[in-house]
Formats: sequence, C-alpha cells, structure tokens
Amino acid sequence: MTTTQPETRRLVVEMRDITKKFPGVIANEDVTLEVRRGEIHALLGENGAGKSTLMSVLCGLYQPDGGSLHLALHQEELCETVLRSPRHAIQAGIGMVYQHFKLIPTFSVTENILLGAEDTPTVLDLKQSGARIAEIAERFALPVDPEARVWQLSVGEQQRVEILKQLYRGAALLILDEPTAVLTPQESDALGETMHSLAASGVSIVFISHKLDEVLAYADRVTVLRGGKTAATVDVADVTKADLARLMVGRDVLFSADKPDAELGPDALVLHGVTAMGDRSVTAVNNVSLTVRGGEILGIAGVAGNGQKELVEVMTGLRTPTAGSVTVRGADLTGKSAIDFIQGGVAHVPADRLGQGLAGNLPLTDNVILKSFRSEPISHRSFLNKKAIREMSIRLIEAFNVLPGDPDAKASGLSGGNQQKLILAREIDATDRLAVGDEPAVLVAVYPTRGLDVGAIEIVRDALLNQRAIGAAVVMVSEDLDELRTLSDRIAVLHGGEVMGVVDPASTSKDDLGLLMAGERLS
Ligand SMILES: Nc1ncnc2c1ncn2[C@@H]1O[C@H](COP(=O)(O)OP(=O)(O)OP(=O)(O)O)[C@@H](O)[C@H]1O
Ligand SMILES: [Mg+2]
Repeated sequence: MTTTQPETRRLVVEMRDITKKFPGVIANEDVTLEVRRGEIHALLGENGAGKSTLMSVLCGLYQPDGGSLHLALHQEELCETVLRSPRHAIQAGIGMVYQHFKLIPTFSVTENILLGAEDTPTVLDLKQSGARIAEIAERFALPVDPEARVWQLSVGEQQRVEILKQLYRGAALLILDEPTAVLTPQESDALGETMHSLAASGVSIVFISHKLDEVLAYADRVTVLRGGKTAATVDVADVTKADLARLMVGRDVLFSADKPDAELGPDALVLHGVTAMGDRSVTAVNNVSLTVRGGEILGIAGVAGNGQKELVEVMTGLRTPTAGSVTVRGADLTGKSAIDFIQGGVAHVPADRLGQGLAGNLPLTDNVILKSFRSEPISHRSFLNKKAIREMSIRLIEAFNVLPGDPDAKASGLSGGNQQKLILAREIDATDRLAVGDEPAVLVAVYPTRGLDVGAIEIVRDALLNQRAIGAAVVMVSEDLDELRTLSDRIAVLHGGEVMGVVDPASTSKDDLGLLMAGERLS
C-alpha cells in the first residue's frame, strides 16, 4: 500500500496575512496558515495568542480586517473566497466543532444532526437519514446511538455527535477548538483514532490544543501563534515537546514542579461515611471517608462520571449527603449551605467555570470581587471600596498573568484560558481571607489547569504548592495522571462512587493508578 506523503498533498486552505482587531487588541496580525488535504494540523499558542479568533475567521463568524483566504475544499484549484457567514463556510466545506457544544438536549442524536442541514426535507425521513448517519459513524469509528437523547450522552459522545453533524453536512475541513480539554484520556485516544481515519479518507483537520504530548501524537504539522502572529509552522517529526513549548512562550519551560516535603497541619476537611445521590437519583458517592490535613494536597483521580462531581459538591456544600458527615476545621457542616461552607473556610474552583464562575458582561474588577464584596477591605458598612477593589484586581491580574490585563475590560472579551486564570486567581486568593488565625483554609480545585497553556500551568501549580506551603488543605480533582503524581501528597482513586484506595504517588505506578481507576483494588 502506498500513502501520499503529507508534503506532496495539495493545499486546501490558505489563510494569508490575516488580521483581526478588537477594540484595543490586535488578536491576529498578518497570520498565515496553510492546510493540506488529509492533513491533521495542530494550532498551538499561549492563552490569548489568537487561536480561537483565527478559527472564527475561518468558519465565517468573524470578518477579517485584512488578508485573504483561498480554499480548495470542493474543487481542485485554490480559489479566493470571502466567507460572509458561518452558513456560507459550511457550504464551502468547513465544519466547526466548538468547545461548548451547540446541541439540543431533549432532541435525539439524529434530530440534532439533521437540524439546520441544507437538505432537510419538510417531512423528515428519519429512517433514511438515520441509516446514513449510522454509515458515517461506522466508517469513522464514531460510535453513538442515533436514537438516544442528547442529555443522556456523555461529554465524549456529545462531541461525536457534533463531529457527525459536520460530516453529515459534507465538511471537508473539520475545525476542533480544544476538543480534548473536556475529554478523559481514554476518550482523547479515541478521538485521535477518529481524526486519523478521517484524515486517511481525505478530510483535513485543524485542532487547537494545549497538550503538547497530544499534538505530537496526533498531528502531522503544527502552526504556533505567539502574540497574534505566526511564530512558526513545523513538521511534528522534526520537533520535541521542549521545542514546541519554546516556540509558544519564547523561553524554556519546566515540566516538573519543585515540591518540598509536606508539613502537615491539623485535620481540615473530614468526610466520614459520606453517601450522596447524583442528579438522576442514583447513588453517586458511596460511603466515602477521607481526611485532608492542612499543608497537603490530596489528589482525586478517576474517570469522569465516577462520583468526582458529586463528591466535590458535598465538600463545598452544594450537595447534601444522604448519609455520613462533613467536618470543616472541626465544625460539623453536614447539611449546611454553600455560603456556610465558604464562611467555614472552603474555597472552590468549579469545573464549570463559565457557568458558575464568571459574569461575562461585567468588568474584571467586578468578577474579582464576586465572592469577597461582603468583607473588609472590599466593602465597609455595605459601601464598596473602589480603591481596594482596583488594587486587588491589579494584584491578581499580575499574579496570574491575566491578559490583556485591563481591569475595566469585560470578562467576555478574554480568551478562554484567560477567563480560567481570572477565576483561579479569585478562588485561590480567597483562601487567604478564609484562613482564620492558625486554622488553614480548604481549597477544592477541580481540573485546575484545564484550558491553560504551559506557562500558565506553571503559575497555577506554583500557586497550589504555595497554598500547601502556607498550610491550606488542598483537594485537587484531575484526570491528568502526570499532574496528579507531580503535585499530590496522596491520591484517592474513585470508581463507581467509592474510594478504591488512597495511595502514595511516589510509590504507585501509572499502571496501578489505571487499575484502581478501572475499579480493581490493589492487593
Ligand atoms: N470578542 C472579543 N472582544 C474583545 N477582545 C477579544 C474578543 N475575542 C478575543 N479577544 C481578544 O483577542 C485575543 C485573542 O483571543 P483568542 O480567544 O483568539 O485567544 P486563544 O489563542 O484562543 O486563547 P485561549 O488559549 O486562552 O483560548 C485576546 O487578547 C482576547 O482578549
Ligand atoms: Mg481559545
């Protein structure tokens, strides 16, 4: 069998000197991106480098202020094209899969895929369309039940529906914006295989990712953006992880964190025999007992959907356990509200940061004080202290390198990663206020580095280790085993709502962690 080498395949997309400005920001400046037929092309760059903006131009959502676009998706020769709208881009063969899915939960998979498709007949012939969807799903290893309602599907399955929807509409170029940020490692591998089979059949793929290992594993070529400009386009065969990191941030990046020995303080968070129901009235957390002491990081490992979400909600007062007790700094808070937990000293970095975390229409300053506006010095006798708010905002923006760092800018104008940094800054900072005397605060951080670039990950890891150093009790939920092993003092592994074991990361291999995650207890 002969396969065409990537470099000899013809160009299907040529973005030349693309410029896109927002008020006060040049998001893209003379950016060039070339994509070949059947190529997997990764787009890499720091948070705010301009990746999502460039892809929004390519899918017709934004009109560029300068530059040109040539496409050859439906024809052999490159042809200059002005994409007037997303609909126009779809007609031109471009399919975009957003990070926040745009599916209708109560509709079936088939209905969602047919919705808005060009050739939707007035009386939907669901059976025939269903067969075609099943055929595409089969061909590209995208298993999903066409009859299922979207709300019943896992995140990974919903993403497959989004991909199927674009393929059904005839996409010859698929754009995926951080597709693996929300996936488990297993789901990411499956997506990698799907991308390969799509590419083998001639579909071109551009995917955005912050995970360098993944970029090296899945992509043929990588384009790196830095500060809105093209830093380089390289073959993955020619580069290392360190090379990519350097191209992104312009300096060397350390992939390990310096972690001194833990200095354990008193018990800060104690769960005793906790059982809790999930949203669908099945037991999600089953008889969990855990103690987290000040000065340590307890990692929570597990495949998504094994009770992490509900466990965190119990730890932060968002879900009431049906059995067992929750004690924070010696006070029994079982059955108390989330406000009681905050006042009791529990800070929370939620998984759903955009839903629970930010008010997009408000400036950064207001978002920074969302949780502290009731306390000194931010407010005094119910009057807000503007100067203190400004100082706090600027301090946090600088500490977490939120870009652009204008405290008066709206939160919705920040790039995805910078929104994450803003919430992390606010919540991690809150632990200082929540500490009372010698009593350490409790910080529950869910996927703390999701969506962050390698430089920002360093900042967040340092911040978590700093919390540990000042005696806070840190609970960190993550699916990244390397991250868990680097940062945690102990790792509790969840499976089916139960703790399969609490292990020492230094003496537990990744394989053993994997076994525990799969529900096997170590002998
Ligand atoms: N709608 C908008 N209004 C104002 N500024 C914006 C808007 N969208 C993006 N920007 C700005 O443009 C720049 C590039 O943002 P973009 O979202 O393209 O970054 P990104 O590379 O996707 O980052 P991330 O990795 O964090 O998702 C950022 O400085 C951002 O603040
Ligand atoms: Mg983005």
